[in-house]
Amino acid sequence: MRGEVTLGENDTLALCLRGALERALKARGCGDPAALQSFCEILALAVDAGRGEGEGEWMARLEDRACALIRSGADGREIAAAIAKAAEDASAPQGGDAARYQGLLHAQVAVTRALERVEGEKREELERRLGEIDGFPDTIAATLDPPTLARMGMEKLRAMTGAVRASLFRYQERGIYACDGTAGTEVPGSRMVVEGRAEEVLVREKGAYECGEGREPGIFLDGVRADLPGRLFLPLVVRGRTTGLVMLERDPDGGRLDGEALSLARRFTNRMAVALENAELHAREQKKIRETVALLELTRAINSTLDLEEILERVARMSVDLCGVTECVVYLRDPEDGHFHPGARYGFLGDGEGGSLPCSFRAREMDRGCMRSLEEGEPVLVGIDGSTALYPRQALCEHGVERVLLHPLISRDRLTGILALFYARRGAGAPGREERGVIAAIAAQASMAIENASLYEDIEKSYFSTIKALAKAIEVKDPYTHGHSERVTEYALIIADAMRLDEREKQKLKYAATLHDIGKIGIAGRVLNKPGALTEEEYSHVKTHPLLGDSIIEPVEFLQEPRPIILHHHERYDGNGYPDGLRGEDIPLCARILSVADAFEAMRSDRPYRRALPLEEAVEELRRNAGTQFDPEVVDVFLAVLEHYGGDPVNR
Ligand SMILES: [Fe+2]
Repeated sequence: MRGEVTLGENDTLALCLRGALERALKARGCGDPAALQSFCEILALAVDAGRGEGEGEWMARLEDRACALIRSGADGREIAAAIAKAAEDASAPQGGDAARYQGLLHAQVAVTRALERVEGEKREELERRLGEIDGFPDTIAATLDPPTLARMGMEKLRAMTGAVRASLFRYQERGIYACDGTAGTEVPGSRMVVEGRAEEVLVREKGAYECGEGREPGIFLDGVRADLPGRLFLPLVVRGRTTGLVMLERDPDGGRLDGEALSLARRFTNRMAVALENAELHAREQKKIRETVALLELTRAINSTLDLEEILERVARMSVDLCGVTECVVYLRDPEDGHFHPGARYGFLGDGEGGSLPCSFRAREMDRGCMRSLEEGEPVLVGIDGSTALYPRQALCEHGVERVLLHPLISRDRLTGILALFYARRGAGAPGREERGVIAAIAAQASMAIENASLYEDIEKSYFSTIKALAKAIEVKDPYTHGHSERVTEYALIIADAMRLDEREKQKLKYAATLHDIGKIGIAGRVLNKPGALTEEEYSHVKTHPLLGDSIIEPVEFLQEPRPIILHHHERYDGNGYPDGLRGEDIPLCARILSVADAFEAMRSDRPYRRALPLEEAVEELRRNAGTQFDPEVVDVFLAVLEHYGGDPVNR
């Protein structure tokens, strides 16, 4: 039967050839019928050529075709049998034994040379690939960003193995891996689950897992079976631990990876695993440094500003930056009714259609168990259903929010607020231990800021009531000025708002405006209440009140900052004021504002010697004196404010 030949025991040359081929081709995989057919043709050619053609010519042709055959990976034993058969078929009838042996001998030489050529090519290719693998650390040196490294690594692996797609999945928790980078077509999926035999091979034995027909499914990508023919899975192993998996997908017609390609791919993935581990260590270190710096900055901010809103905004921004959440909202509890109100937010939830904002909510709108944990100082992780009191559901769904971490803000042993972090990362688990530690540190800072703010508010309230009591003392002495300080304060703060002064400046101005005429305590009542014009001497006496005021508050620690404003509230922009004759911008801005507010209020009130001026006249008076008595810019701002209010906002 054709193709089934038993070599005779005495057929020594054929046996030699068979032995040589067997040794040389042993490692080259399994037989291929097309390759065998082709080899038979070579042999026929060899034998034919042996009968007449030029020896060099057919030897070269034979060698080329033998190369092609060997590259295709035919089985040595079958090839040897085919050679003998072909030689026998081709030569026996005409040429006899001599021609047959000559043909076989030439075939052996040509095949041996072809083998050497292929070996050489393979060695070169192997050296090139090994060079690529060894050169991969240079790529690592160029980037320490794990996702970039993962993508570059997969590009390299894909090029090396001829796969259509190479994807890297990092270990997340037992049996679950998340996609980190892909080269080739689009990302195959985000979450990989590995179980059964696949897990045994990849995780326990640290071996390659080749997919075949009929095996129980063991790998799933986003819930869909992933271990399909044409896919190969390799573990990323660092210090005996499987830190991730690589999935190689080949063209269904491309056949399997041969032994050498597989061992190169394994060598590469091992290097890749170490490189990724190092990059991640580096990234973790960098993150720690960023967190530490951010926390230090937050502490510094808390110590340097009393503006709670500013601190909470910083807390929200920092939480989003450091924890990679979609949104952070700081809810503050109203001490009066116990409701929670958003004090600051940062993120993307409010940026969708309609731009929904976080809600205010009552404690009882939250799950009771959840509220109890928060009251006890325990953070709680809730799903989307447990968080709709915090945010409109539509915004949560629109941004794929899956869970919310609620961290209690405790000040003076009471729940004074909640730090809410909205997680929208698909496939990601709950925040890990390290991340929770960072959140706890941020929450501690926020709690401290709230505590400081409330302590400060208490102190400020008691200070301000002291100041108001002092201001009242002047009003007792000069009944015409009843309510003057309060109204001046209101005008001054309206101007300060329009000029966008910061909270600290506004507070200084508030104290100064309330106390600006405190020095009048030292002015004789008959002068203050005199219905007619003052004599020069009396006027000189009145002009001492800013200096007197300054000396009254000099010993009071918390009034040091408003002192210059009180001292200079009667300076004029043209330099003709008192007590120091300061000019233009040498006069503190708050004193220039106070001067306009003071004069305007005086014009709008009854005095012992005249009735209050109508609004139009008072405005005209300001306009007329802008640039001489008053700072023209302050006057412009104030007139714009009056226009905005459509009249006098204080004294209607
Ligand atoms: Fe005054």
